[in-house]
Amino acid sequence: MRIEVLILLVLLSSLNAFAQSIQSPDGKLSLSFGLTANGEPTHQLSYRGKPVLQKSKLGIELKDQPGFSKGFTLLKTDTSQKDETWKPVWGEVNQIRNHYKELTVTLQQPAHKNRRMIIRFRLFNHGLGFRYEVPEQTDLKYFIVSDERTEFNLTGDHKTFWIPGDYDTNEYIYSTTKLSEIDATSGKAAQEIAFKTPIAANAVQTPLMMKTSDGLYINIHEAALVNYPAMNLMANKQTFSLSSHLVPDAVGNKAYLQAPAQTPWRTIVVSDKAADILTSRLILNLSEPSKIRDVSWIKPQKYVGIWWEMHVGTASWNYSDVGNIKLAETDWASLKPNGKHGATTANTKRYIDFAAQHGFDGVLVEGWNVGWEDWFGNWKEEVFDFVTPYPDFNVTELQQHASAKRVKLIMHHETSASVTNYERRIDEAINFMKQHGYDSVKTGYVGKIIPRGEHHDGQWMVNHYVRVAEKLAQNRIMLDAHEPVRPTGLHRTYPNWLACEAARGNEFNAWSTGNPPEHETILPFTRLMGGPMDYTPGIFQIKRDYYQPGKKEQVHTTLAKQLALYVTMYSPLQMAADLPGNYERFMDAFQFIKDVAVDWDDTRILEAEPGDYITVARKAKNKDEWYIGAITDEQARTANIPLTSLTLKRSYVATLYTDAANAHWENNPMAYQIQRFLVNDQTRLKVALASGGGAAISLRPASKEDMKKLQRYETSR
Ligand code: NOJ
Ligand code: CA
Repeated sequence: MRIEVLILLVLLSSLNAFAQSIQSPDGKLSLSFGLTANGEPTHQLSYRGKPVLQKSKLGIELKDQPGFSKGFTLLKTDTSQKDETWKPVWGEVNQIRNHYKELTVTLQQPAHKNRRMIIRFRLFNHGLGFRYEVPEQTDLKYFIVSDERTEFNLTGDHKTFWIPGDYDTNEYIYSTTKLSEIDATSGKAAQEIAFKTPIAANAVQTPLMMKTSDGLYINIHEAALVNYPAMNLMANKQTFSLSSHLVPDAVGNKAYLQAPAQTPWRTIVVSDKAADILTSRLILNLSEPSKIRDVSWIKPQKYVGIWWEMHVGTASWNYSDVGNIKLAETDWASLKPNGKHGATTANTKRYIDFAAQHGFDGVLVEGWNVGWEDWFGNWKEEVFDFVTPYPDFNVTELQQHASAKRVKLIMHHETSASVTNYERRIDEAINFMKQHGYDSVKTGYVGKIIPRGEHHDGQWMVNHYVRVAEKLAQNRIMLDAHEPVRPTGLHRTYPNWLACEAARGNEFNAWSTGNPPEHETILPFTRLMGGPMDYTPGIFQIKRDYYQPGKKEQVHTTLAKQLALYVTMYSPLQMAADLPGNYERFMDAFQFIKDVAVDWDDTRILEAEPGDYITVARKAKNKDEWYIGAITDEQARTANIPLTSLTLKRSYVATLYTDAANAHWENNPMAYQIQRFLVNDQTRLKVALASGGGAAISLRPASKEDMKKLQRYETSR
């Protein structure tokens, strides 16, 4: 050992009253826990010998009593390890290795009746998870968390992909700046979000993606967020330090806990390869196994729906245009229809027929139930009852029609954030679903929360989302939540919770400045770290002026990139979001959406750089088929797609859905081409992606006839 290193070590240990380290199974990551002279817990993380986190403090503050942040002595430490493999009900891969070393530190506070706290660290090959635990003890039973003091002291002014910290929304556009340049008040297009509660100029949300100047990728998030508020991060722009900031409740407290209790896991995924961030299963591994025993009824699915026509304004959710109604007192049949209502019996039948014809599992119908006349922006409690259809929606007839066509109607519960109302009525709403054969529901939380003063991401709401998932599971109903807190791996625990929105979805492209072309290259590195997203891809009619001349809004991708999103944006629930009529105009491209799988045996990230591009190949579950998606930001590029890593054992037919030579997201977004070739494990595809473009590729085994008819793809091209 060099003398400088020795001196440093002696120096470091003299600063700590105590220190202990563990290494990841592959030895690349090293975690040190320490106690300062004041008895403050600290952690420190390094990757291949270089610091990722400098010494950073840990702790939680309690209301009306001394906190769990200093004055600790060490009671004991334990180390252990685990190496197991488990099978998710659905997912990006069909089995997941859970391999880590664990360090458990039990601390006590001699000055405070020896109150105890445990910090549990799990160190994986690609990252760290840790959480606070308050064990059962005589002198601490009920307590209120007033703040959390978790620090992440970074080593420099990293490139950061961030959205503003907010108690109520995650529907922001990402900014990419140095850490020192974070200014959440400059959040792009923030005025387009229905309701928001930004925290401070230096507050950002997790998952937070960063890249160091020497090419290390760092992602900070949390796992298993239950019975606790979500964590935002406050950036110190001088010291490059991030510190936790919990979402408060209506009276300013953060969490009400009863020992034994634990916080969610704080997670840091680290690698020098961007692809490793995307393939890390750390957050899933830290989440509890499925609480649902019989999972046979849970099915990944593709759906269409009465939805986009409302977003582009050719139909309405509301049946009538009276702006002001009282739920209990309105005679719905006497209201004058506005002539634009989307969720009519006839229109729903059209969607059911379309779904049946093209092999979709479900049909979402929004605006089927009474109350949409004044649902938005009034902080009103009694908005929807979730059981009364509008006069022009015949639920019995539609269920018969759907079941004859072997299609499932998907229920829609927009709560308008009146959550007390939803909780009062949810049992009745579930009965209604069961009576009418619904087995999936999309929920929504647009607006200001009731109970008034609560936030979308506070402890009360976090518990609400879980309560809904649990209740639905008991009734064998699958869930897709819009505007909830961002996911943290709970889809492992509640696999009926197929997806969440919880970020700026494709809908913003219909009626706002939209999502910039880089948006979908950032989401997998941020929002999707916690779980699948119902992004609602598949918009073919890119420009809004098709519906209303003069309208400037548009989807900020090419048509081919919309296809690629079915592969790059992982979800077991995927919508074909455009109108049937638009798919009928481009049936050859629609074929990809019909074919693409929603559940996978395996996933390979072939190339990836946050904010720039992603190319992903996935093998369909229990099928000899692969699907590849490649996307780029506003920069045109060539995607390199070697098939060598896909373990292909024969020749396949590759169908390439790509941007036409002159395509461009803004000037010529709908120009695509479709080509078919024979390929095998030696093939290296090179595909040109337009500015804001993408490519989707399907592979299926070649028949004898294909072998005769089709040309082999020439790798030299
Ligand atoms: C916002 C959701 O994200 C969107 O999908 C839905 O159509 C509207 N709320 C109305 O519920
Ligand atoms: Ca939304």
